[in-house]
Amino acid sequence: MDALISYLDAKKETHLEALKEILRVPSVSTSPEHKGDIDSLAEHLRTHLEAIGMDSATVHKTPGNPIVTAEWLHAEDAPTVLIYGHYDVQPADPLELWETPPFEPTQKGDRLYARGASDDKGQSFIHVCALEAWLATEQRLPVNVKILLEGEEEIGSPNLVPFLEENQSWCSCDTVLVSDTAMFGKDQPSITVGLRGLAYLEVHVEGPSRDLHSGVYGGAAPNPATILSDLLSQCIDSKTGKVLIPGFYDDVLELTNAEEEAVHALPFSLDAYKDAIGIQDVVGEAEYTVHERVSSRPTFDVNGLWGGYQGEGAKTVLPATAGAKVSMRLVPNQEPTVIADKFESFIHSIAPDSVRVNVIHHHGGSPVVMDLTSDPIQKAAQAFKEVYQKDVFFTREGGSIPIIADFKRVLGVDSVLMGFGLNEDGLHSPNESFSVEDFFRGREVSARFLAHMATKTS
Ligand code: BES
Ligand code: ZN
Repeated sequence: MDALISYLDAKKETHLEALKEILRVPSVSTSPEHKGDIDSLAEHLRTHLEAIGMDSATVHKTPGNPIVTAEWLHAEDAPTVLIYGHYDVQPADPLELWETPPFEPTQKGDRLYARGASDDKGQSFIHVCALEAWLATEQRLPVNVKILLEGEEEIGSPNLVPFLEENQSWCSCDTVLVSDTAMFGKDQPSITVGLRGLAYLEVHVEGPSRDLHSGVYGGAAPNPATILSDLLSQCIDSKTGKVLIPGFYDDVLELTNAEEEAVHALPFSLDAYKDAIGIQDVVGEAEYTVHERVSSRPTFDVNGLWGGYQGEGAKTVLPATAGAKVSMRLVPNQEPTVIADKFESFIHSIAPDSVRVNVIHHHGGSPVVMDLTSDPIQKAAQAFKEVYQKDVFFTREGGSIPIIADFKRVLGVDSVLMGFGLNEDGLHSPNESFSVEDFFRGREVSARFLAHMATKTS
């Protein structure tokens, strides 16, 4: 381990520069205009994996964005770890709110600013650096490793699920290792043992055949914007935080007493929470703690809302159409397709006959919970403790990584969610950043985790 740690120490700047090169590529998966960037980054990653000594580094074409894989399978009788990460990012807009350009990585003190710095280029590159350190200092890895980097996580991994099903034998492993989550707080190593699922839909309301003068027609012609607001407000009780879609809670599994105690034991400051995101007060289900509300309770949210005049000043208009993007975060045992159907039926059942309402289904993902006593999770906790000198927190998080449930379903394995990010990193927000120190320390945690995975537990 000593040589390896000295190597990681000596390579800090080189690794940071290599990460910056990856961050310079605007690999935004939501917009087709970035397809060229996505393809060139996939090839760059393939070359990099080959250069550090991984075998069979390959870019797999898919109907969407490519999947990059590589392997090192010479550790006889040792377990196999599948490292998963994503090299696509969310759009950088609103651009005017960035203090430095999103695709020109800029370091200020301990923070490295760029879209994808934390989610997930910085976090997944940690493992690539750890593999390099092993191969450069020991000319081997302690376990068999397969690495899989996808370019469509931010759009629901539509092509990774079929890839997984078609390449089940290549993907087979003893555990999956993922860094795409957050630590509970700065210097507080955490392993995420639960993620929420997701159902994402769009509602379109169409009324009159054209925009109308609101004075001439208002009062008799149906207003899609007003009707849409009414439909959406019937989905959630803003006072109690309860989702009102019939059957929404039918399959929800409440936390066990032990799980509830574990969540309640996590430190939490309401003032710090409110300050960090600039809110006056929290909302939601009063009978659950804030941490429970954002990690183990299902939710309904409007993500986008449009219709009518958005320009400067006032225009007296009755819009012809209005629309909204909505999402529901799900918890065990809610099924994304079942929930999406319940939402659609509910919307149709309450929509007035005066307008046409269309509901479009987007991607979804199932929630997951992991057994924190499992051998790989305990070994990850040990590796974290060796580097951060602190006991790990086991947490559930509110975000979603849909493929984790598919790893379980198709490969029959749990994932180790070894997050190095922080909620303050600004994922999906302007000025996303990542701690340089955690990037450096993460490489050592990853290297140590692989070593622990090679040892048999009695
Ligand atoms: N890294 C996040 C998921 C995440 C964020 C997990 C914070 C835990 C804490 C991931 O890249 C992401 O943003 N996922 C999407 C899923 C989607 C687009 C299907 C999400 O959660 O919105
Ligand atoms: Zn993300």
